[in-house]
Amino acid sequence: MAHCWCGSGLPYEDCHKKSDLRLEALHKKGERVPPKTLVKNAAQIEGIRRASKINSLVLDAVAEKIRVGMTTGEIDRIVDRTTRALGGIPAPLNYEGFPKSVCTSVNDVVCHGIPSDGVVLKEGDIVNVDCTTIVDGFYGDASRMFTFGPLSPAAEKLVRVTKESVEIAVEHLYPCCHLGDVGFYIDRHARKNGFSVVREIGGHGCGLKMHEEPYVCHIGKKGKGMVLVPGMIFTIEPMINEGSPLFTVDKTDGWQVRTIDGGLSAQVEHMILITEEGYEILSA
Ligand code: MF3
Ligand code: CO
Ligand code: CO
Repeated sequence: MAHCWCGSGLPYEDCHKKSDLRLEALHKKGERVPPKTLVKNAAQIEGIRRASKINSLVLDAVAEKIRVGMTTGEIDRIVDRTTRALGGIPAPLNYEGFPKSVCTSVNDVVCHGIPSDGVVLKEGDIVNVDCTTIVDGFYGDASRMFTFGPLSPAAEKLVRVTKESVEIAVEHLYPCCHLGDVGFYIDRHARKNGFSVVREIGGHGCGLKMHEEPYVCHIGKKGKGMVLVPGMIFTIEPMINEGSPLFTVDKTDGWQVRTIDGGLSAQVEHMILITEEGYEILSA
């Protein structure tokens, strides 16, 4: 019996055959289908689920310790230490030259904030902590917002709406829905509340590498784009801005992304598996 093309060593019948037939049928119907390599097999899903669980434990450790007066450099050390204690590797460290083990994006920093002993968290701040963990070669990627009250009403609302936008988009996922649905629901909720969505930086397939296809844009058209079939794993991670959706990239470090107008930006990232029944939030 022929082994599956994916290298699992399993008979094709027990591995990707079912999903390959589904892709073929969808393609015949005129749908844009993912390359078959983006559909994970059972062993890969198990590995990615475990990496995601450990990544969530790292975020739990941050949640337990983060407080006003702490520097983002200290958050980096908590993440690095906790990740390694749990048997993982922090993926950001040295990724394309990124200098730290986690991204900490405070206030007007949209994403890719570099932890520093010079950045002290203070009352009124909103900060996104974005962790990516490698466990046995599999990746988990997720981020949470932390806030230090009292917040301005605008900051409070921005963080709430950002969380809600992800929840709404996730609730609308179903087997063989479309990539454009994600952006449609996120952008609609942000705009309804007077906020704007960053278009050029978004989510991504994830699991065997940190960043895989497809690019998940947080602005989109319902029913358009690639079909999301069972076995696909990707992030939803909108960056939602108080004012302009435009941004600049720090010329000195080449990483830190800031809003062009100095307005606040919030982000929440979850990693999602599409299943035969619906979806699973791997980063829950
Ligand atoms: N965790 C980020 C993401 O959600 C990627 C971080 S890349 C790094 O895609 F180099 F900044 F770490
Ligand atoms: Co991500
Ligand atoms: Co991330």
